[in-house]
Amino acid sequence: MTLRVVVVLALCACAVRGDRYHGEDVGAKGAAANARQRPAPLEAERTKQFWYDEAQAAIEKRARRSSGQGKAKNIVMFLGDGMSVPTLAAARTLLGQRQGRTGEESELSFESFPSIGLSKTYCVNQQIADSACSATAYLCGAKTNNGVLGLTAAVPRYNCEASLDTSTHLDSIAAWAIADGRDAGVVTTTRITHASPAGLYAKAANRNWERDEQVTSENVDIGQCRDIAHQLVHHYPGNELKVILGGGRREFYPNTTVDGEGRRGRRTDGRNLVEEWISQKRSRNASYSYQWNKSALKDALANPPDYVLGLFQDTHLPYHMEADQTTKPTLAEMTELAIKTLQRNEKGFFLFVESGRIDHAHHDNYAELALDETIQMSEAVKVATDLLSEEDSLIVVTADHAHVMSFNGYTERGGDILGRSSGSADDSVPYMTISYTNGPGARPRPEGERIDVTADNNYGASRWRSHAEVPRSSETHGGDDVGVFARGPHHDMFSGVYEQSQLPHLMAYAGCFGPGKHACSAGPAIHAPILLLVVLTICQILRL
Ligand SMILES: *[C@@H]1O[C@H](CO)[C@@H](O)[C@H](O)[C@H]1NC(C)=O
Ligand SMILES: *[C@@H]1O[C@H](CO)[C@@H](O)[C@H](O)[C@H]1NC(C)=O
Ligand SMILES: *[C@@H]1O[C@H](CO)[C@@H](O)[C@H](O)[C@H]1NC(C)=O
Ligand SMILES: [Zn+2]
Repeated sequence: MTLRVVVVLALCACAVRGDRYHGEDVGAKGAAANARQRPAPLEAERTKQFWYDEAQAAIEKRARRSSGQGKAKNIVMFLGDGMSVPTLAAARTLLGQRQGRTGEESELSFESFPSIGLSKTYCVNQQIADSACSATAYLCGAKTNNGVLGLTAAVPRYNCEASLDTSTHLDSIAAWAIADGRDAGVVTTTRITHASPAGLYAKAANRNWERDEQVTSENVDIGQCRDIAHQLVHHYPGNELKVILGGGRREFYPNTTVDGEGRRGRRTDGRNLVEEWISQKRSRNASYSYQWNKSALKDALANPPDYVLGLFQDTHLPYHMEADQTTKPTLAEMTELAIKTLQRNEKGFFLFVESGRIDHAHHDNYAELALDETIQMSEAVKVATDLLSEEDSLIVVTADHAHVMSFNGYTERGGDILGRSSGSADDSVPYMTISYTNGPGARPRPEGERIDVTADNNYGASRWRSHAEVPRSSETHGGDDVGVFARGPHHDMFSGVYEQSQLPHLMAYAGCFGPGKHACSAGPAIHAPILLLVVLTICQILRL
């Protein structure tokens, strides 16, 4: 083996630890290299209070200008994992082109929402977010460290012991909603134990502790730090979620069990968490449905049970373009069952829906798959806007972080969004309208020259990688702001540029639940007359 091959293999080995898409070089080594002149974040950022105060001050300010009325009984938050602003522009173009038009003038379902803002996605210890620290921000209302879920930045990643201190624990907006008597649910196309959905119900010093063996293999006491799948079934608020739909069956079954699709479980503690979930619901005398295929999901639509657990794949759901449409539900179909199940609570609900594989496709430089997963998200949002009234239901669509896909060149109007740029490069070698700053699509340059990627054997296939500048086994996230689209009560509170950790506070404000200020109990519109009355009364007393 040449030295070069050894180095490449060593790099791959590092990146594979934990998660194929998110190598653990994130945060650690890079930070050390930069440490010399790097100012540290404020100590206060390690506390929950810092981010709560930051959000409440912003809400106070914005509420004074807001003309919003009413109360969001229902709230649906849609999250496109890695759905950067260029991803939106390219996806809408692809959508239009698939319909036979030029494409650029097309619109994703949520792009017509009345309010749009930008959220700042950095985390406490990292300029560019991973999906765990960002999920903690947009679901629990406080920024934290990269790789950490549901805990403040006082907990270093991997540190189980630090996470036992309850002052570091954060409650998610699902817990706030349930405490208010509403129902809550979660839907994703990734493993249900993956970072974004786990932000709703888990507290974990490491996002990769999805099943028992991933905790114990790091010599962590599993009696103290439970794996994420276990938390979903047995800890609050996971054990109160009415709807749980996604992938990741293997994290729930023992490695001695083979599931309905012939896939083996991965747990080594012998526990069958699906059976435990079932017996728990049975002991509550509730109706329930555990399902693993599309026909069971469709059957449940007619008469949704009290609780539904759907795990449609051993790991992540397949990409929509590659899925067997007869057995795998779409994000839109899962969203429909979720809303129809949760809608029965008269007090309302909170639902989190993630199109999680936009991120994975970008990490592999698979532009078409990333755009198609974005279009799937647009379809799912359409289901929600059709089922829920603008009068009483708030819908928020956003992303956790960006990616480094660029939409570039001087392609003519209507040019194939997945094709080569019609502009010319200085070296006269073709380049794509969509390419990446880094990732596995980086091509070797044997003679120092770029190669013509349009001559690749699989050029045009959905798993053809667009070209990238910097070679990396997995393309990285981007640090740019991401869009926030809002429709429904108090949508105008979501305009502006703000910290991502404000999002759950803003949603709870609109819904009148949770720890902060509520739209329906406060605000100038109500306070002014009361104040006037007090002043008038005092004047009268003084005259007497
Ligand atoms: C299941 O896990 C146990 C404990 O780690 C291990 O000894 C056993 O070989 C595994 N079985 C299979 C079929 O992988
Ligand atoms: C469930 O139903 C059984 C029999 O009807 C009853 O004895 C039990 O108390 C019920 N449990 C709960 C939690 O309601
Ligand atoms: C779908 O799952 C149900 C059990 O929930 C099973 O009875 C049925 O055979 C499955 N259908 C297919 C097509 O695998
Ligand atoms: Zn990612």
